[in-house]
Amino acid sequence: MPSPSLCGLLCLLGLLWSTSALDVSYASYINFAGVDILGGNDGLPSHPLLPNYGKPTYPITTDGNGREQVEAHLSYFEGSYWMHAATWGCDGSLFVFAFGAGDDYPASPTYAPGDYGADGNCGIKSYSSPDLVSWTLRDFYQPDMSVANVTKPVVRYSNATGQYVMIMGGNAKSNFFYATAASPAGPWSNPPSVMAGAHINHDFDVAVGPDGTHYMLSDPFTNATLTTDGYGVPVWDLYVQQLAPNLTSTLNTTATLIRSAEQLRDTGLTLEACGFFYHDGYWYLTFGMTCQNCAGYVYYYYAEHPLGPYTDGGYLSLDGCGGQNKGANVLPSAAGPVVVAGSLGYKTGPDNLVVGDNIWHADNHQAASSTYFFPLTFNADHTIRNLTCPAVARVPLVAGVPPPDEPLALQLDCRVRTGQTIAQWFDTPKVVSQLEFPVWQRTDNLGPTWNAGPVLNGPLTVTLGFDDGDHARFVWAASNVSWAPTKITMDVAGRNVSWIKLTTNATNGCYGTLAQPNTDKDGAYGVVVHGQRTTSPLAQLYVYQY
Ligand SMILES: *[C@@H]1O[C@H](CO)[C@@H](O)[C@H](O)[C@H]1NC(C)=O
Ligand SMILES: *[C@@H]1O[C@H](CO)[C@@H](O)[C@H](O)[C@H]1NC(C)=O
Ligand SMILES: *[C@@H]1O[C@H](CO)[C@@H](O)[C@H](O)[C@H]1NC(C)=O
Ligand SMILES: *[C@@H]1O[C@H](CO)[C@@H](O)[C@H](O)[C@H]1NC(C)=O
Ligand SMILES: *[C@@H]1O[C@H](CO)[C@@H](O)[C@H](O)[C@H]1NC(C)=O
Ligand SMILES: *[C@@H]1O[C@H](CO)[C@@H](O)[C@H](O)[C@H]1NC(C)=O
Ligand SMILES: *[C@@H]1O[C@H](CO)[C@@H](O)[C@H](O)[C@H]1NC(C)=O
Ligand SMILES: *[C@@H]1O[C@H](CO)[C@@H](O)[C@H](O)[C@H]1NC(C)=O
Ligand SMILES: *[C@@H]1O[C@H](CO)[C@@H](O)[C@H](O)[C@H]1NC(C)=O
Repeated sequence: MPSPSLCGLLCLLGLLWSTSALDVSYASYINFAGVDILGGNDGLPSHPLLPNYGKPTYPITTDGNGREQVEAHLSYFEGSYWMHAATWGCDGSLFVFAFGAGDDYPASPTYAPGDYGADGNCGIKSYSSPDLVSWTLRDFYQPDMSVANVTKPVVRYSNATGQYVMIMGGNAKSNFFYATAASPAGPWSNPPSVMAGAHINHDFDVAVGPDGTHYMLSDPFTNATLTTDGYGVPVWDLYVQQLAPNLTSTLNTTATLIRSAEQLRDTGLTLEACGFFYHDGYWYLTFGMTCQNCAGYVYYYYAEHPLGPYTDGGYLSLDGCGGQNKGANVLPSAAGPVVVAGSLGYKTGPDNLVVGDNIWHADNHQAASSTYFFPLTFNADHTIRNLTCPAVARVPLVAGVPPPDEPLALQLDCRVRTGQTIAQWFDTPKVVSQLEFPVWQRTDNLGPTWNAGPVLNGPLTVTLGFDDGDHARFVWAASNVSWAPTKITMDVAGRNVSWIKLTTNATNGCYGTLAQPNTDKDGAYGVVVHGQRTTSPLAQLYVYQY
């Protein structure tokens, strides 16, 4: 530190320089609630083997709908941040639902594609944001179901064709699908096309080199299976290939990174859920543990050339911060390129399938799951530092973006059941013309691979109490309630609402709300069972519009 007499102009220049060099805004991205405002009482207990970094949160869009961001991928194009994500809100049952003896649940519904309850194809949502905090839905792409049921979108720009290319996973064992658009907001070509090349199915990511060359990492199906305790887990071969400039075909410059048999023999690892990125002269491959929708280790390799040879980097985390690795997101920032590791925040429950010390199959219902994002940091020798699993990740933004507000830490609350009401009471009645807040549904997980039917067996009823003692009822059929938080709207014509109660006669699951930190301090939020109130003093019902 220079002495005061030496300081003067030098110090002033230094101050100006460091002010401009540090003129970086940061976005907060909430992975987990720092404080559980529902005190563990949200109707959604997780499996005891899931590491506890805090209750998962659920984000919203600028219009107050839940931000469906399953398998989400981030990018930066045309002066905006973009998120392309799968949506599973149309159907909670990922794998199977089954009926036990004496169960009397509704049969599989036969709604039209796009409706809640439609089986198979929920589509892809494209969101944009100026600051990684406030996100607006720009497009909802629902490709022809007879062609593909798409998922896992990653969007890149082809300089050769002037088109954005969205690459998607799809039907088991077929090559990846792609759709093109003139804008990252779509509209995306429909039906999607099939990529040309070999070894391109299952999971993937696309890295972009400093010269704009694109490479794909994929972990395609093989016939190898690892059997543990009687359960088989597929073992994948890992391939890196250069993509053609149109990004819709491989160039057949195949590098097989690891053969499944060698991988098993040498490491005992089963790697899938891959990420692939270029950073500061090196190429990185990240993987999660092979597992059906559950958390596990994150492992990586790195190399000076995209086609290898790759050096074993080891574990970045033994527990995946409670998620499964999902791609790598490289974003520009005023502090230089940042790499944000994605992570699938799968829902678990006490009765999930466990093998050894691992959850091998989490809940069947993952519609209300989200994606965590963990910024990566690097050592001087280009190795990656271990994940720290922050509840709130801080991501530096591009230059010129004012510091965004802190996002709301919203928690899922699924306690509307037969005989149990979620309620919000107001001390000062709210003068309401139109009331809007998100709700969602979930049938119970009944065991390792089955759940209580594909839809709730009774409607959701919202009752509003007015300050004059009157009340009004609004009823939504289960087929009208999404599996991911989605707004319902009630016209109240300027009346004064004293309380909101959500009830159901459904016996095979719960309806849910979103709870936010209690900032109004004007009333109480909680449940009523047999006339008995249990309140959560730190929480209030998240309402988009009164
Ligand atoms: C997509 O899913 C639906 C519903 O499960 C199924 O009927 C359809 O055949 C699937 N499409 C393809 C191309 O597999
Ligand atoms: C993109 O294409 C233009 C011509 O269309 C060319 O001038 C430019 O160098 C290309 N950029 C990259 C990164 O390939
Ligand atoms: C898997 O096995 C089947 C027959 O058993 C064979 O036709 C197929 O080529 C094999 N696939 C791979 C990727 O080895
Ligand atoms: C993309 O480029 C590759 C390599 O040039 C070519 O084989 C393929 O036909 C192109 N795909 C389309 C849809 O034009
Ligand atoms: C790569 O090989 C596949 C066959 O495996 C072929 O269909 C495709 O056209 C080839 N692509 C290029 C760009 O040569
Ligand atoms: C990173 O995590 C792995 C797995 O827990 C551990 O073996 C390794 O020592 C950690 N590295 C550092 C630098 O803490
Ligand atoms: C719930 O009530 C509706 C009528 O509002 C009825 O159709 C449905 O069968 C009831 N569900 C159960 C589980 O009793
Ligand atoms: C579903 O909701 C829409 C409007 O929100 C309404 O028009 C329709 O009647 C509802 N259908 C059922 C079955 O509740
Ligand atoms: C609502 O309450 C306000 C006082 O807060 C009162 O002036 C108004 O008349 C009430 N409106 C209705 C429709 O009861």
